[in-house]
Amino acid sequence: MAGDIVVLGSVNRDVVAEVATLPGPGETVSAERVRTNVGGKGANQAVAARLLGGRVRLVARVGDDRESEALRAGLGAGGLDVSAVRVVPGHRSGSAYITVAGAENTIVVDPGANHAWPDGLGPDLALVRSAGVLVLQQEVPAAVNDLASTACGGRVILNAAPARPVPAALLARCDPLVVNEHELADLSGPGGPTGQPHRAMAALLGRGARSVVTTLGTRGAAWAGADGFGTVPALEVDAVDSTGAGDAFVGALAAELATGAALPEAVRWAAAAASASVRAAGTHAAYPDRRCVRELLDRHR
Ligand code: RIB
Repeated sequence: MAGDIVVLGSVNRDVVAEVATLPGPGETVSAERVRTNVGGKGANQAVAARLLGGRVRLVARVGDDRESEALRAGLGAGGLDVSAVRVVPGHRSGSAYITVAGAENTIVVDPGANHAWPDGLGPDLALVRSAGVLVLQQEVPAAVNDLASTACGGRVILNAAPARPVPAALLARCDPLVVNEHELADLSGPGGPTGQPHRAMAALLGRGARSVVTTLGTRGAAWAGADGFGTVPALEVDAVDSTGAGDAFVGALAAELATGAALPEAVRWAAAAASASVRAAGTHAAYPDRRCVRELLDRHR
């Protein structure tokens, strides 16, 4: 299946504090540097897919505060079509408070307008309906994801992050469901197999998912679907900042699947894109283009 990609999801103002070590409970640490940038899993995935050659539209909601114009302008400056990033009156824009210590990070999200869809998909229903590939995450309400996945006639990719239960009807449309190991364990339920992604993924296939992809950090990724089960390695790089690496993976996966690539090849490409994305600080500024991913793959051949 090929076609245009619609990413429906969150847009946040990321406030990023770089620290030497992540603070523990009750601990206060000083930041070495603080920066702000445009983030949100939806925005990140849309930007990653566009950089890798996808024809992408982002459907999202921002507030009517001062931040919203900066968020829309930031995304537009990167070449993304923001006509479906709509202002919801009476709400503030989403924010994320991120602490980065080397390759580790913690994130606290204030969802703001990402949770405000007063008229459902409203004027964006037709766009979602026409998507060749629809990409969803879980920083918008479950009801919105349900509306979108029901309306869309194309392929649905759900990145189940942050973790929350995935309704059976949505799970049955996922091709693939994309999770990390924590989300995989959460979705497999109590008593589900741990430390064995292939068994947990098989359990999710058994519950209706058409295919499942699990990101395994520095160990790469695993996939399961109609063609069986497989793994791909991560590519060794000097990691500077892993914030948004999962989003780079999902965006790259969508871009490849939209070209008609088979799942195993798309996962291999996405794992390389995620590896490339951790070599510099930040998210969008660190995301690779096609040439960059190709060079990395060639170097590790
Ligand atoms: O996945 C990284 C993203 O999670 C950040 O950009 C932040 O906004 C949160 O949504």
